[in-house]
Amino acid sequence: MSSSTGSTSTGSTSTVITNIATLVTNDPSLGDGSPLGLVRDAAVVIEGDRVVWTGDSSKAPATDNRVDAGGRAALPGFVDSHSHLVFAGDRTEEFNARMSGRGYTAGGIRTTVAATRAASDGELEANLVRYLTEALHQGTTTIETKSGYGLTVADESRALRLAAAHTDEVTYLGAHIVSPDFADDPAAYVALVTGEMLDACAPYARWIDVFCEKGAFDGDQARAILTAGRAKGLHPRIHANQLSHGPGVQLAVELDAASADHCTHLTDADVDALANSDTVATLLPGAEFSTRAAWPDARRLLDAGVTVALSTDCNPGSSFTSSVPFCVALAVRDMGMTPDEAVWSATAGGAAALRRTDIGRLTPGAYADLTLLDAPSHVHLAYRPGVPLVSGVWRRGVREL
Ligand code: NIG
Ligand code: FE
Repeated sequence: MSSSTGSTSTGSTSTVITNIATLVTNDPSLGDGSPLGLVRDAAVVIEGDRVVWTGDSSKAPATDNRVDAGGRAALPGFVDSHSHLVFAGDRTEEFNARMSGRGYTAGGIRTTVAATRAASDGELEANLVRYLTEALHQGTTTIETKSGYGLTVADESRALRLAAAHTDEVTYLGAHIVSPDFADDPAAYVALVTGEMLDACAPYARWIDVFCEKGAFDGDQARAILTAGRAKGLHPRIHANQLSHGPGVQLAVELDAASADHCTHLTDADVDALANSDTVATLLPGAEFSTRAAWPDARRLLDAGVTVALSTDCNPGSSFTSSVPFCVALAVRDMGMTPDEAVWSATAGGAAALRRTDIGRLTPGAYADLTLLDAPSHVHLAYRPGVPLVSGVWRRGVREL
């Protein structure tokens, strides 16, 4: 491959990116007709913040700026629909203990809650920006992120205020665990999460989430929390069936949650319910990697017709990676996904998990969020694990990398 000779788009003029060896459009009506809508020898035209043209490089219209992709692959920027980036500290010791044989429990969340409460706004924002920048450099152009390491009215609303300054996809997770301050009275904590805390947090968030798991919140508590959030205009998503089988997936479908996240322990009835719903199953292989847990069975979900998203779950406890390419490689190696399926799930699947149609595809009208790989095709994301292949990123039409 020759090297890129691109100029930088200002976002206000038009730019054509030519000489793309393999373009993932995620529009099955284009190119090879597969779900990825692969176009070979392709070009993309960007005007302002949108894609306005996609097709054969030789037919690309003339524009102000021309970027030669040098035979690289291009795909929609990754849509990471599940992360927890507002926190302080890390949990290296807990990770070390796990790698020496100790199991993962959500109890470690308390360590991060203490560190997060003690941190200044400036420290929390600097951490957030650091992880967002890592993600961008690995090809992510949209990222959802959650509160959940504050667990007081002031600390949860602060986390969401900081997050909302950096992304539109903000999730209120006051129901991550019962706050240690309410250890003897979980019902009072649920009342706080659905009352004063919700009132303070709702203005900053689009979504409400709950960790539905033994030791966190049961099905009835989770239903009460998500229903209260919905009454305040927040749409539900759920941490469901991560560490054990539970009611989370069925509840997600019952409430038309945009996504049931983790989905590691599923019955056939859970898979059927997902397949007959608009709820996406978001798989988070970084968590199984980092907790040495059994992998979620992506193949079973895909074969049943479930829409699957792949995301990082970036957090300091169970999955301290901001790399979608790493998750793609894990999903292909260990969860039964083909490279095409994993790339679809990390782009269009993530968009579906956020109920978005303006991202996750490279077709006219979509946001010009595009990731260029120093490789001839998207398959190299799994074929060359751990290699930093991302060599260009446009977000909203602006070249960021
Ligand atoms: O998605 N499951 C709950 N929350 C996180 C883990 C949080 C932590 O361990 O700090 C998750 O894996
Ligand atoms: Fe999570």
